[in-house]
Amino acid sequence: MTTSRIQGFYNLPLEARLEKLAEAANLPIEELTALQRAGLSVEQADHMVENAVGIFGLPIGIGLNFIVDGREVLVPMAIEEPSVVAGASFMAKLARAGGGFFTTTSAPEMIGQMQVLDLDDVHAARLALLERRADLLAEADEIDPLLKKLGGGGRDLEVRVIPDSPIGPFLVVHLIYDVRDAMGANAVNTACERLAPQIEAITGGRVHLRILSNLADRRLARARCTIPVKELAFGDFSGEQVRDGIIAAWAFAAADPYRAATHNKGIMNGVDAVVIATGNDWRAIEAGAHAYAARSGRYTSLSTWGKNADGSLTGTLEMPMAVGIVGGATKVHPAAKAALKLMGVRTAAELAGIIVSVGLAQNLAALRALATEGIQRGHMSLHARQVAIAAGAVGEQIEKLAAQLVAEKTVRIDRAEEILKSWEK
Ligand code: MEV
Repeated sequence: MTTSRIQGFYNLPLEARLEKLAEAANLPIEELTALQRAGLSVEQADHMVENAVGIFGLPIGIGLNFIVDGREVLVPMAIEEPSVVAGASFMAKLARAGGGFFTTTSAPEMIGQMQVLDLDDVHAARLALLERRADLLAEADEIDPLLKKLGGGGRDLEVRVIPDSPIGPFLVVHLIYDVRDAMGANAVNTACERLAPQIEAITGGRVHLRILSNLADRRLARARCTIPVKELAFGDFSGEQVRDGIIAAWAFAAADPYRAATHNKGIMNGVDAVVIATGNDWRAIEAGAHAYAARSGRYTSLSTWGKNADGSLTGTLEMPMAVGIVGGATKVHPAAKAALKLMGVRTAAELAGIIVSVGLAQNLAALRALATEGIQRGHMSLHARQVAIAAGAVGEQIEKLAAQLVAEKTVRIDRAEEILKSWEK
């Protein structure tokens, strides 16, 4: 990658954008064309789900200006909502002044759960299982020889007593399983199903559910950024005003679950867009994010915002990030393959780091707008273009009609149709 800072990208015609992208990413353009046309054939779709009848398209925009751990990265984002790609790109530009985003990830360890029922003494069964921890882990290691060869496999066994439930007490066994560069659901579910008979033999109980947990709190990704305060100034707002406004907006989310849900939704606007573009399971990421946000018993913000000694704005984001670069749609979907290629990621951890960086940038974009001029101004012109298209505008009419709607402050389809009709006369 040469640079993720491509000036005037927005103003280029669509075809020229792809050429520019290939040039900046140092890739032959053929490697990226799948990004342009739905990426997936109906025949491929037919192999992916049951009763397939077609494919569903989403726009892919490119998040520009990102530097993640010192590396320039162009980020493909699949999303239908206007302003998201522009917001992330703009905030990534501000973050460049502070060196971009710095990320860390924990080991790619997923949790597989086994529910053990019909036990006479849950406490004795728990200790019996812990006595056999090493044997069970050794067995878990043999289940997927390829994963073992790549350095993955069983890492730990935890056993919890659920003392009280609607059906009385039972045991939960957690198999901690290192899945390397996979999302891991298949590997973990297989391991749990294979270990279950031995767990039954040791405890004398019955293993009921055997399934991974989407609360992947052993597989975290973290990003931080520092924005020099002068970068935040715009219009009549000083950098200090914007910074303090952002911190106050974050405090609202930190203290109030009603606000935290919306604040985290803004983070997920960025996170999901990259997760989808890379063919990963966004429902798993959503489930993990919100469960993690509620881990203290009260739902709260996934991010934090503050200021450092020199007055710069500092932001952090930490959340579960169960994404893969092998297996599933990541290797089947042509657009997902092109997306991974464009980012030049070599490991799932690298991808996770980019995703949380985009989430943090997206959060900043929303808070900056909310803490200053409000969210609607930026939204309005993009929304107006969609209304113009829906009303039937084509080619140059789209921009012209959108501009008129914004100027009139009536971004409504009936008014758009009326204007179009008056132009036809
Ligand atoms: C809209 O998609 C996302 C926001 O509501 C996020 C937020 O309020 O922080 C703008």
